[in-house]
Order: sequence, then C-alpha cells, then structure tokens
Amino acid sequence: MKNIRNFCIIAHIDHGKSTLADRLLEVTKTVSERELQAQVLDDMDLEKEKGITIKSHAIQMEYVLDGEKYVLNLIDTPGHVDFSYEVSRAIASCEGALLVVDATQGIQAQTISNLYLALGNDLEIIPVLNKIDMAAAMVEEVKDQIVDMLGCKREEILAASGKTGQGVEEILRAIVERVPAPKGDDTAPLQALIFDSVFNPFRGIIAYFRVMNGVIRKGERVKFFNAGSEYDADEIGVLKLKMSPREEIRAGDVGYIISGIKNSVDVKVGDTITSVATPCREAIAGFEDVKPMVFAGIYPVETDQYEDLRASLEKLQLNDASLTYEPESSLALGFGFRCGFLGLLHMEIIQERLFREFNMDVITTVPNVSYKVFTTKGDELMVHNPSGLPEPNLIDHIEEPYILAQVITKTEYLGAIMKLCIDKRGVLLNQNFITTDRVEVNFDMPLAEIVFDFYDKLKSVSRGYASFDYHMTDYKPSKLSKLDILLNGEPVDALSSLIYVDHAYDFGRKMCEKLKELIPRQQFDIAIQAAIGAKIIARETVKAVRKDVTAKCYGGDISRKRKLLEKQKAGKKRMRQVGRVEVPQEAFLAVLKMD
Ligand code: GTP
Repeated sequence: MKNIRNFCIIAHIDHGKSTLADRLLEVTKTVSERELQAQVLDDMDLEKEKGITIKSHAIQMEYVLDGEKYVLNLIDTPGHVDFSYEVSRAIASCEGALLVVDATQGIQAQTISNLYLALGNDLEIIPVLNKIDMAAAMVEEVKDQIVDMLGCKREEILAASGKTGQGVEEILRAIVERVPAPKGDDTAPLQALIFDSVFNPFRGIIAYFRVMNGVIRKGERVKFFNAGSEYDADEIGVLKLKMSPREEIRAGDVGYIISGIKNSVDVKVGDTITSVATPCREAIAGFEDVKPMVFAGIYPVETDQYEDLRASLEKLQLNDASLTYEPESSLALGFGFRCGFLGLLHMEIIQERLFREFNMDVITTVPNVSYKVFTTKGDELMVHNPSGLPEPNLIDHIEEPYILAQVITKTEYLGAIMKLCIDKRGVLLNQNFITTDRVEVNFDMPLAEIVFDFYDKLKSVSRGYASFDYHMTDYKPSKLSKLDILLNGEPVDALSSLIYVDHAYDFGRKMCEKLKELIPRQQFDIAIQAAIGAKIIARETVKAVRKDVTAKCYGGDISRKRKLLEKQKAGKKRMRQVGRVEVPQEAFLAVLKMD
C-alpha cells in the first residue's frame, strides 16, 4: 500500500486536464504515442465534440522514482456542474489532486468549487500552472492568484505544458513525494467505494471502485450496501488502457468489477461494495441518491414513433441511471415522456444521443425545475410539469429549488453581472476580490432562473469574461403562478409555465411577441394570448395570408419548384397541429429565445 498513490485532476473546463492526463500516460509508458492520437480518457464521441469529460474513468500507471516502483491511479473527474456528485465521489476516492490552472485564463469558477470539494476531503493539493508554452501565459500573475487562494508557497506551484510535455516529469515526482499513500486496513471486512459505472452492451455494468478496507477477491459473493443487492464478482481487475483482470484487489487500490448486472439503476455511484461472507458494519459515508433537477417533455415528431421512443429511452437509461422518464400526454403534442435530467447539459446530451444513436427525431418542450406544492388539505406533491399543477384554489403554497450561484469575473463587468443576477431574483451573499481586477460573487438564486437563458446572458454582459458554477441548496416558498398560452382560444398545455408573480406580465407579453415571430402565417388569423387563470394578460395576432410558395418561381424552372416544395414538406415535419393552427418546434422552446 505504501507505494500506491491515488489522485485526480481538477480544473476548470478547457484548462487542459485531458491533455495533461495524456502526457502522464505517455511519460509513464502506460500507452504508446500511437494509442494516444485521441485523448484516451474521453472515449464517447459526443464527449470529444463537446470537449467535456462526461463520464469519469480511472487508469493505472506505473512509475519508477529513484529505483522504487510506484502504482499511480489517476481517477478522472467530469468537468461540469451537472455531474458534481460523481466528481465528489471521485475526489473521495483519492488522497491527492492536481489543481490545474490555465496560465492564460487564471482561476475560474470551477477551479474554486472543485478545490473546495477536494479540501473538504482533505486531499493534498498540487497546484499546476498549465499552458505555459503559450505567448499569452500570465505566469507570475496567475501564480499570485494561486498563492492567494491556496495559501501555499510560490515554489510549490509546478509549471507545465500539456502540449509540449514540459514539466510533466516534475508533476509525476510531486505526486509520489507529496500525495500521501492510502490508509486502510486490508485485514478488515471489505469496504469499496463505487465512484463510477459504465454500461457495456456485452458485459453489462462495469463498476469502478476504490478499496478503502479489506480485499475483494474474484468469484466471491459481494453485496452493494445501499442498493441491497448481491452478486458474484465474476471478474475484477485494474484499469490500464484496457481492463486487466486480477485475482484480488487490496485496500488502497482502485479497480473494476463485472458481475452480470444489466441495469445501471442497480449500481449507484457512492454505494459501498462489501463481502457477503464477512460484511462491513456500515457503508462508506456520503452516499446520495442523485435526483434529476430539470424536467422537459420529449415527444416523437412522428406520433407513431411513441413505442420506438420508449424503447430508446429505456436503453439510454441502462447506461445512464440519472435519466428518468415517465409517460405523459399533451393535448398539443400527443403521447410522449416527461424526462428528468441532472441539468441542462445533461438534457442536451440525451437529446443528441436520441438523435445519433437511435435515429429519433423529437420535439422537446420548455424545461422546468421541480416544485413542491403544498395543498390546502395538507398534502405535499412534487410537480414536474406546470400542467400537472392542482387547481389554484387547492394550492396553499409552492416551494421552488434554490441554488448558490458563484460567478468569477473581471471587476469591470461586475455591475452588469450584479444587475443580471438581481433581475433573476438573485440575492447577493458576498463578494471576494481574488486579485485587484478579478472578483468572485456569490448569489442565492432560484434554480428556475438559470434553466432558461442565464448562461447566454452572462456571456454577453461579460463579453465571455465570466465563469459560473452552482450548487443546489434548498427549497424555499415562492410566489408563482401558472401562465397559459392560448392559440385561437385553445390552451396549449405544452406552452404552460410556472412564473414568478412579479415577472408574469412581462413574461406573458414577451412570450406572445416571440410566438408571433415563430408561428408562420396561415390561411386565417391566429390569436395568441397569455392568461393567468381566466385573465388574459397579453395578446398578439398572426395575420392571415394565402401563401403560395411557388408564386416566386417565375417561368418554368421545374427543378427549382420541386426543391421549394420539398423544403416546405421538410419544414412541416417538425410542425404540430394545435386545433387548426400549425405550430413549429421552435415555438415550444420560444421561452428560451426571449430577450
Ligand atoms: P474539459 O474536458 O472540457 O474539461 O477540458 P480539459 O480541461 O480536459 O481541456 P483539454 O485537455 O481538452 O484542453 C483544452 C484545449 O487546450 C485543447 O484545445 C488543447 O489542445 C489545449 N491545451 C491543453 N493543454 C495545453 C497546453 O499546455 N498548451 C497549449 N498551447 N494548449 C493546450
């Protein structure tokens, strides 16, 4: 155990975590250069495109320092707030962390929030200033920031470049010298922490774990403590570039287990694996059942694809337990599902995977958070869809989820960002100057306010010089009312939303204006109305037009004419008939595009 080092890399998005990890693997000869053409730790197609390590993995390296052989386990952490619970379990499996900061960017919101997580788990932090090969690197300035933030000595900061490989040997040496060897008792009953799992179509679920105490042996009967299920450890092993089977894995080490589990719901990140013969008395602390935070309706474009959509969601859930779905129907959209996601990025990923892996073309409704509704009868309901809200006279009060929002920016944009957050019902909690021109501000804010267009607005008011992170805090009472949209007098359930009372008028007006732009003219007038209960609060009209698309085609250019007609047909695909009105997909997401 004394020659094992378990560490992770924490960094803000794009600060070079994956590139640096590749270098470590290369220098320790864990992989050859040829195998490294692609970033090996990001192996999902989508991840590469989005440049985000969505699912954490682990990889084992061997490193010889001063004649002594060490085993270094690198546990990769996903870089996005949507996956922060997985990050926290990965961090709990390590004794040390490389804190990577891009020398051209300085400390950003995620650098700080991940650092807090790591410090909370007593990890040894090794600060690494990355991308020093770049001309724009602000080496001394960013070192100042790191010293201020960590209270470390300047000499403790390593300077490196994932691109050129400069400083990588020093990083490996620091891991061996500074990160403590794991503690743990290999004679105690087995306790292994699951920090991640993946679905393999041939082998079922592969769970990644860190053994805290005891030894896990191939073939033994094991129990997943919180899930309460028992399995045989069909195969255990360590992760090199490929899986490498072993007979046993001892306290302090990291490995994987395959035990014929088919459904990701049975293998929860944060759960404890113990042995059935000599079980541990308690689970490793910190287990949480992660709950979806953002919900949206997903409907097939072609109504007869409902069953296909169900089958696709079922498959997706096998390898992504944090996705939830239940059938729902909408007058406007027909039969579909209300899906729950960890956050907006997670929602985008699922939508994209439905399209790419399952060839499913779907209509998505406006995302919303979940609300706690307290009825006059004293019941408490969780409502995931505004149209599922009880009648107003049955509601005593409603609570909505709040977050701690953290923004880091340059001082010159502070005013604009304050205004934005306050407009979004944020309450300023504190502000800290990281340096004279960089400031961190924290707000207490409703989650619902960032579900819509917060990121885009933040980017535009700060010209991109702001980073953002958030964590759920609590549910709090809120004055919300249900706003309905009517097209020619008919309410369109898929367009209903729950809105903070003081924002409702403004929101209703903007929504009508936006819908007017998005709904094409048809052969009759279309009235668009926003209503709270029976009260109409805004109205717009889309004027009738007799639209002859081929009229533009002078002369007899047949192929051009055909093209136009085909284009129109394709455009129709994502339309939905609401009463007599044809509504395009964009309209269902109108709220995301309002100013
Ligand atoms: P996420 O997975 O999105 O969190 O990103 P990451 O932190 O893993 O960053 P990644 O390694 O993907 O690097 C982001 C970008 O910076 C890529 O375009 C890299 O090629 C580039 N990059 C990374 N390290 C260096 C470096 O040391 N020098 C230079 N010049 N570019 C680098």
